[in-house]
Amino acid sequence: MATDPSARAPKGTVDMLPATARVWEHLLRTAEDLFALYGYEPIYTPIFEHTDVFVRGIGEATDIVGKEMYTFEDKGGRSITLRPEGTASVVRAALEHSLTANGQSTKLYYAGPMFRYERPQAGRLRQFWQIGVEAIGMAEPSLDAEVIALMVRFFEEVGVPRGRMRLLLNSMGDEECRPAYRARVAAFIREHAGVLCEECDRRADTNPLRAFDCKNEACREVMSGAPLLCDELCEPCATHYAAVKAYLDHLGIAYEEDPSLVRGLDYYTRTVFEIQAEGLGAQNAIGGGGRYDRLMQEYGGPPTPGLGFALGFERTVLALAAAGVEVPVPAVAEVFVARAVAEVAGDAFLICDALRCSGIAAETDHQARSLKSQFKLADRLGARYVVVVGPDELVTGQVTLRDMGTSNEERVELGDLPTIVLDRLGR
Ligand code: HAM
Repeated sequence: MATDPSARAPKGTVDMLPATARVWEHLLRTAEDLFALYGYEPIYTPIFEHTDVFVRGIGEATDIVGKEMYTFEDKGGRSITLRPEGTASVVRAALEHSLTANGQSTKLYYAGPMFRYERPQAGRLRQFWQIGVEAIGMAEPSLDAEVIALMVRFFEEVGVPRGRMRLLLNSMGDEECRPAYRARVAAFIREHAGVLCEECDRRADTNPLRAFDCKNEACREVMSGAPLLCDELCEPCATHYAAVKAYLDHLGIAYEEDPSLVRGLDYYTRTVFEIQAEGLGAQNAIGGGGRYDRLMQEYGGPPTPGLGFALGFERTVLALAAAGVEVPVPAVAEVFVARAVAEVAGDAFLICDALRCSGIAAETDHQARSLKSQFKLADRLGARYVVVVGPDELVTGQVTLRDMGTSNEERVELGDLPTIVLDRLGR
């Protein structure tokens, strides 16, 4: 084990080794296929942005902007930040490239690493991976239900059992009803000054709704008696929220209303939601999202509604493990081409290449292993078939095909090998 700290991945980061990277790719493929059914197209934005994109978008008084951003000055003297999330960048890009000009709408998805300087613990990293969607330009509550349904279906599709997920739902109101509500929560906090933690006391002046998110037990207790926004929504927000719930009911998607769900980003308006999974401890949110109808205006754009969600890869993997679900990843090799003796190494090499050219994942030995070791390797790579190339068979243009599941062996004509293997693999 290396003792030099620089020989290890930095604190709060992990190397995504092949076994995990293959799960990421499986989740990504599942997401791509599913999101396509809902009309989403991919977008890739830079991993870093001008710091202001996140300060304006996520909000100065949030933990993310206040404490967790990886911000640095680049060689040109610009303040640059590694993206802590995807929404701000996607909305910035949608505005910059006029994707929602003239009343158009756009549905986009993205996937990649995000960076937050948080205290690392199980399910909480400094570099973590998200898959997210953003639907920009649409204000109707049917879209809220569609986006929420998509998130639930993604988790179901990858195998998180419905019974192990809780979908929490709330409305954050809008610029009509939230300011008065914020003022009431601020007053409530001041009434309880001294009982709440120092940070929550300060929040009365900076961002009172964040006090609902405080992990301190005493604060949670006090805040459970705070006024609730759901009781004070303006009429259009209340109507929107009721319609979202009605659509979810029609879709048969179970949710729990959680009036204290405020989420950690300030861009939200109206609908917010989160999915929590069982067996994850404190970091149990596997995905979350909401509406952000004012975000594009923050960047100087026209009023443009938007909505989306992001799910955390590492927590999804933990949720699947906690539920005892094995993610189906394809074998590294479907077929292993083994050579009985060194003299036929060249033939094995060409047979392996021919199988690959026929679309079969094939592997062969490049380390002069014994036949026994080649079989072990075939096993480790998950090969369902081993082709044994021997000098005697080759004379008659044949090889031996061994089924690793049943141990059955048969002689096959070399020319027929790809067709036979494809047939056995059901392709
Ligand atoms: P978020 O709730 O901050 O929302 O993050 C979404 C998910 O990313 C979380 O539910 C969690 O699974 C994962 N996550 C967040 N922080 C960490 C961390 N430090 N380590 C591991 N996983 C983490 C957003 O990021 C919004 N952009 C979602 C959204 C999209 N809202 C509208 N559109």
